[in-house]
Amino acid sequence: MLRHLMNVMDLSVQELDELLTLANQIYENPDDYADACHRKKLATCFYEPSTRTRLSFESAMLNLGGQILGFDDADSSSAAKGESVADTIRVISSYADICAMRHPKEGAPYVASLHARIPVINAGDGGHNHPTQTLTDLMTIRMLKGQFSGLTIGLCGDLKFGRTVHSLVEAMVRYPDVHFIMISPDELRIPDYLRRDILDRNLIDYKEVGVLEDVLPKLDILYMTRVQRERFFNEEDYIRLKDSFILDKAKMDLAHDDMLVLHPLPRVNEISTEVDDDPRAVYFKQAKFGVYVRMALILTLLKEAGTL
Ligand code: CP
Repeated sequence: MLRHLMNVMDLSVQELDELLTLANQIYENPDDYADACHRKKLATCFYEPSTRTRLSFESAMLNLGGQILGFDDADSSSAAKGESVADTIRVISSYADICAMRHPKEGAPYVASLHARIPVINAGDGGHNHPTQTLTDLMTIRMLKGQFSGLTIGLCGDLKFGRTVHSLVEAMVRYPDVHFIMISPDELRIPDYLRRDILDRNLIDYKEVGVLEDVLPKLDILYMTRVQRERFFNEEDYIRLKDSFILDKAKMDLAHDDMLVLHPLPRVNEISTEVDDDPRAVYFKQAKFGVYVRMALILTLLKEAGTL
């Protein structure tokens, strides 16, 4: 059956668990999977800049013995001549076995999935969703905390435009006894739909605050985000808000010894480099886990499509 991944909620809790278990197995025994995608091709269609997502997808397919093709800039594709996403994916369906697509327009990978004959993975669509980052975040939490339930998670920074935050909240509310503390400037608070349709509807315990120091001692996980310059309507607002929160050594002293600091990266100023050597700072480890979880996803979708 042809299956796509647009949103982490496309996966049931059981499917998510199976995917993370497979990612863990690949992490433990990578050689066992070195030829799993022999002669299969991954197309990376990136209409928006990326380092981690595109390269970790490509690394994932190469680690599985497959091959890669694609573009990393809309201007180097026929989108620059006005080709639609629908036509592009129809063509790429003849060139590759699976596609990862990033696009600045929300819903563009979904449109692609409607016209595709191969599995399409949303690699980030505007300020909307970024499911494979969420899979990466979940793998990091499961590997380093051992469980999802019972955690108090602080989400800090640009909670309005930060698509990784939206996807992570949606995924985590499915586990029992999860608490959120949202830390942001007023202008960058979580969107209303997330508050109303996800948090309130699921009776999730959360609060919204403006000062990081006050809540740091309560957190099991601090998920930092950068202020998303590319989604602002004017530069003045960006400059005013960009350094609202900067995590440094002095603030880390307020946190538990076992609090983890995650960040989807790229980082700008929001985490001082002096924090990088703190064993609680796991954002580079998190980026590494992204390869294994994408290997698991490629394998799962190709198997379901009957390609493997
Ligand atoms: N975390 C993330 O999506 O990073 P890139 O924008 O570099 O892919």
